[in-house]
Amino acid sequence: MTLPDIDAQTQIYGVMGWPIGHTASPAMHNAAYEALGMNARYLVFAVAPGLEAAAVRGMRALGVRGVNVTVPHKQAVIPHLDELRGEAAALQAVNVIAREGGRLVGHNTDVAGFHRSLEEAGMAPGGGEALMLGAGGAARAVVRALQLGGASAVYIANRTPHKAEALCAQFSCAACPVRAVQSGGPAFYDTARRVKIIVNTTSLGMKAGDALPIEPELIQPSHSVVDIVYNPWETPLLQAARRAGARTQNGFGMLVHQAGEALRIWTGSAPPLDAMRRAGEQFIRGA
Ligand code: ATR
Repeated sequence: MTLPDIDAQTQIYGVMGWPIGHTASPAMHNAAYEALGMNARYLVFAVAPGLEAAAVRGMRALGVRGVNVTVPHKQAVIPHLDELRGEAAALQAVNVIAREGGRLVGHNTDVAGFHRSLEEAGMAPGGGEALMLGAGGAARAVVRALQLGGASAVYIANRTPHKAEALCAQFSCAACPVRAVQSGGPAFYDTARRVKIIVNTTSLGMKAGDALPIEPELIQPSHSVVDIVYNPWETPLLQAARRAGARTQNGFGMLVHQAGEALRIWTGSAPPLDAMRRAGEQFIRGA
């Protein structure tokens, strides 16, 4: 890496999360700074739960220019910011903090990141229906992105049904109703057959031996199947989808594009996506 030497002008960015041993964000962002010729560094801040307020105060005091926020702090940082903008307000979840003069503004680029990754792959639902598996933290951004991508309806199946229902209450609208559907029931099978895109937002597939989040027999060649997991690179769900003749995408596109959108907010520059993708993929696949 040939970034300029650290001096008094070096701008500091980073990511705060817990635990945060293994994140591809420094590789992607530092590669971007290098490609853009910026005097900047991107660091990892392991911030224990409960220390969000102190971390944000520290960011103000030390002049840190921007941070990504990841699990478990995406909601906890909100009361300590001066403003929420765009999707961060709708989701009540912040994954990017940007300094604007003396003010700290919260943004959410997970939504735009997932949306752009679908568009890039030609998988945006555009008028078709979508089935989303899971209703946790990541699911909220995915629902919004599917709506942005023109889904005519989003169905949510989750092990714990009331969490799916809570997302429906929050995000359903006339242009794109959001409905809960019980996994394994007849409505689920009908829905799975009808939809254009199936998105896994559950954590199933991250560990060896995990069950599949949907029966593979339900996957058809007409489906686009997206898993927001990228480690392993090809989850058992994506393997099954590929074998069924469906189009597949892992979560790496979302990771790169959420980072690219963060960089755009922080610097106003178009993100050097190829450099970010190369560095991120090398980190994840080489790690
Ligand atoms: P994230 O922020 O990554 O979305 P999360 O908020 O913990 O993580 O959500 C994990 C999702 O995976 C949830 O939808 C969870 O289902 P529950 O709401 O029922 O907990 C789902 N999930 C995790 N383990 C699962 C399992 N063994 N079977 C089915 N769903 C599972």
